[in-house]
Amino acid sequence: MKNNRLLKPSLHLVCAGCTALGLLGSLSLFASEMKNTPLHISQGQLNEMIDEGAQAQAFETAFDVGDRLFEHRFSARDGVGANIGNGQRFSLVPRADLDAENQWASHIPRRVTGPNAQSCNVCHSTPFGDGAGRAVMNNIRDPKHTGQVSDFINRQTPHIFGIGALQRLAEEMSAELDIVRVTAIAQAQSSGQTVRLPLVAKGVDFGLLTAHSDGSLDASEVAGIDPDLLVKPVEWKGITTNIRAFVRDASHNELGMQPVEITGKGVDGDGDGVVDELSVGDITAMVIYQAAQPRPTTREELSKLGLIDPLSTREIRRITRGEQVFVDTGCESCHRAQLTLNDPVFSEPSRHPDYRDKTFPAGQDPLAEGIDPQNSIRFNLTEDLPDNIIEHKNGTLTRLGNFEKTANGGAIVRLFGDLKRHDMGAGLAESVDEAGTGESTFLTKELWGVGSTAPYLHDGRATTLAEAIDFHGGDSAASRGQFNALAEADKRALIAFLKNQVLYKTREVVGR
Ligand code: HEC
Ligand code: HEC
Repeated sequence: MKNNRLLKPSLHLVCAGCTALGLLGSLSLFASEMKNTPLHISQGQLNEMIDEGAQAQAFETAFDVGDRLFEHRFSARDGVGANIGNGQRFSLVPRADLDAENQWASHIPRRVTGPNAQSCNVCHSTPFGDGAGRAVMNNIRDPKHTGQVSDFINRQTPHIFGIGALQRLAEEMSAELDIVRVTAIAQAQSSGQTVRLPLVAKGVDFGLLTAHSDGSLDASEVAGIDPDLLVKPVEWKGITTNIRAFVRDASHNELGMQPVEITGKGVDGDGDGVVDELSVGDITAMVIYQAAQPRPTTREELSKLGLIDPLSTREIRRITRGEQVFVDTGCESCHRAQLTLNDPVFSEPSRHPDYRDKTFPAGQDPLAEGIDPQNSIRFNLTEDLPDNIIEHKNGTLTRLGNFEKTANGGAIVRLFGDLKRHDMGAGLAESVDEAGTGESTFLTKELWGVGSTAPYLHDGRATTLAEAIDFHGGDSAASRGQFNALAEADKRALIAFLKNQVLYKTREVVGR
């Protein structure tokens, strides 16, 4: 269906190797191409394409619309921002004090931050669109709605590259854990004895699950995930299962662009005089756009492809040494170098029932709104990712955005993470336990792209990679100790290895 691209004939990439000049050039090119892409789409329009057998067209259209939505600077007419009180539309500071009707504290659903910005890309912008954020783009939230500054939490903007693969890994890991659950119950019931089984998924240890002979479960020894045994890859605290759930909340909280699936149709939940600000189809498009972001890459890989200057032998040796030091100092026990996906097809809605909505937050039946797992938008993370297609002088193409294939059709995901939560110690604790998972408990941050995304840690307190490591406490204190005890050369090697992990987006691309 390649030549069936309705909306944008060829290039759709945002930013080049990131000289200022390249950036400007690519943006003007980008703007002219975006003209033909509609800003909104209905789920019905996407479903029509699927019904006609044009899966690829549905994917590409959703990607393109999602791309536009992600970077569009919404206006008051679109419904951006909210009536937060005092005649204002945006606020970087949570305003639970503004609590008269339709003011900040009375929005439906309840607001925890913002509205902060006119577009997603304002924050996800470093070193280019879909990237991370600088300190000024931190998000200040008031989860308890107290209006007390001491109850606010401060979160740094992460990049969203590769997030589709993270959701797929979580889906497969949860499916594995569910088999342990079913097995434990079956064994306990048939033997009449209590059964205690290790919860392991893709080699990551999530503690122990106990089943009693009456079929009841004891999850008190489960580690790093909730008792529901679902791996949650989204947010610094690893508390959200899927991209859709996060994106619609971000639209509401960050932008004040309210999706109908969280307000209900015709409902002006934020008092700005505009209803139905984002359709179900719009949110699907944003999910597809995010899930199909390219995988992060390495400077080594880029230099081999001639996209950056060649690395010196000394640099390569240092990176290789750093990789070994990373393992030797225990970093890899949490920051797993890679996890493997058995099935690299991403599907929206998800094929895993716990990674799609049973009902939308506003109460609608997703099926009645056209969100049908039998008729989903699908794409292959090892074949279809639209970004970072490099055309070589001899005309051959490298699809650098795609994940690497395994011999049996799976995908290698070099995330440097384990999708598990860890206690990082009192030093990193937040003032509020936002989700009941512990003030100092965070998801192992994936380190892919980390060379491009300073500042670091959930609140951006670390300005360098060495500082980020030095803030590791709790379950990671021993590893930090090992790092601090290293010889200077080994410390430098480890940092060089981390700096090798970068984000890349290029415009040197021709179609697909
Ligand atoms: C004010 C800055 C800001 C804006 C605007 C913003 N984000 Fe974010 N984004 C963040 C922060 C901060 C986080 C981390 C939140 C957390 O984990 O607590 C985040 C996290 C995310 C994540 C999850 C990444 C992960 O690995 O867990 C996604 C996806 C995302 N944003 C998408 C969007 C979309 C889509 C929009 C526009 C509708 C948007 N963001 C607008 C700051 C922003
Ligand atoms: C017990 C698990 C664990 C171990 C061991 C561990 N980390 Fe981490 N790491 C985490 C968690 C969890 C976070 C996120 C903490 C936060 O945001 O406050 C993190 C964050 C980071 C970050 C910041 C990433 C970013 O994008 O902000 C870096 C860099 C990092 N770790 C490197 C290392 C290195 C190097 C080692 C070995 C010396 C190591 N870590 C050992 C769990 C671990």
